[in-house]
Amino acid sequence: MYIPERVLTNHDLEQFVETSDEWIVSRTGIRERRLATSADTTVSMAASASRQALRVAGVDPTDVELLILATDTPDKLMPSSASVLQHELGITRAGAFDLDAACAGFVYALSVGTQFVRAGVYRTVLVVGADALTRYIDFTDRGTCILFGDGAGAVVLQASDAHEGVLSTVLGSDGRGAPHLYVDGIRPAEVPNGAVDSVPLPHMKMNGAEVFKFAVKVMGEAAVEAIDRAGLTLADIDLFIPHQANLRIIDASARRLELPREKVFVNLDRYGNTSAASIPMCIAEAAECGRLQPGMNVVLVGFGAGLSWAANVVRWGATGIGQGE
Ligand code: UT7
Repeated sequence: MYIPERVLTNHDLEQFVETSDEWIVSRTGIRERRLATSADTTVSMAASASRQALRVAGVDPTDVELLILATDTPDKLMPSSASVLQHELGITRAGAFDLDAACAGFVYALSVGTQFVRAGVYRTVLVVGADALTRYIDFTDRGTCILFGDGAGAVVLQASDAHEGVLSTVLGSDGRGAPHLYVDGIRPAEVPNGAVDSVPLPHMKMNGAEVFKFAVKVMGEAAVEAIDRAGLTLADIDLFIPHQANLRIIDASARRLELPREKVFVNLDRYGNTSAASIPMCIAEAAECGRLQPGMNVVLVGFGAGLSWAANVVRWGATGIGQGE
């Protein structure tokens, strides 16, 4: 994983919007978040996380056959950030594309990558989640500016004969909810008769209450469906890694699933909502601190703009941070 150096605490936010550390912590669980600096781009953050993932997996960049970058903040509209990332990493023999399913993007990308491995098309796939959503935040809007942070995380998928890796997949989308969370495209209002000056980046708009209701419902449902498709029961689940948007959403989902707190991974207090990066950042930290052990059954659930959602049950393999080195 990679996180930018710049820290924005709740107390910092108190200086420029009407909010308080107490409100933010009690309503969201977030204490601080990281903001991309001028040196950070989606590609640079993704590259840093990817290099670490490749090193831990012991995979040479030239062995990667497919690169999927989940992001909704690509550095450019074209080419894809995945193409630029591919070159940056020295990956020379791979297909590469961006995948946008907002905060559900990483689980979507992991699901897509898995299908290529399962089908025997590719043996080594790099899956990355990276976002710099704070670039699209209106820092006078207290309903959104307190929530988001920037970062990246990456995993390497490899073909294996063992019964491990991604065991099941659930993907969902309900476009009726699109107006609840969006960032407009950049489009100059008038073009004829002269140049259009640089257009400011649009800001994220969110109906927090609607997204909240949707998230609580879908997290539990998607998790149960994924567990069922994997042929497991809730009792078989060792760790729940939900998208890190709001601690109240995570707690409500865990209660619905009757999962004890120690089986739920949370790091949003330090990073806020990092969109497509949140789940791979959790995976990296969980593996690093020993909460992910070989053979464990893990549920990943993402949700976000779309409205979209995705879940996987993963059996953690023998190679990874904490195991490989
Ligand atoms: O990846 C998906 C991304 N999005 C989400 O996951 C968002 C999901 N939604 C949420 O996390 C929550 O809805 C929020 C954290 C955004 C808002 O929390 P809430 O408990 O739903 O608050 P609310 O919107 O119902 O607002 C309650 C009050 C309002 O004041 P009044 O009208 O009761 O006087 C808000 O104006 O809290 C006020 N408020 C704040 N006060 C202090 C809203 N934001 C803030 C703030 N500081 N930052």
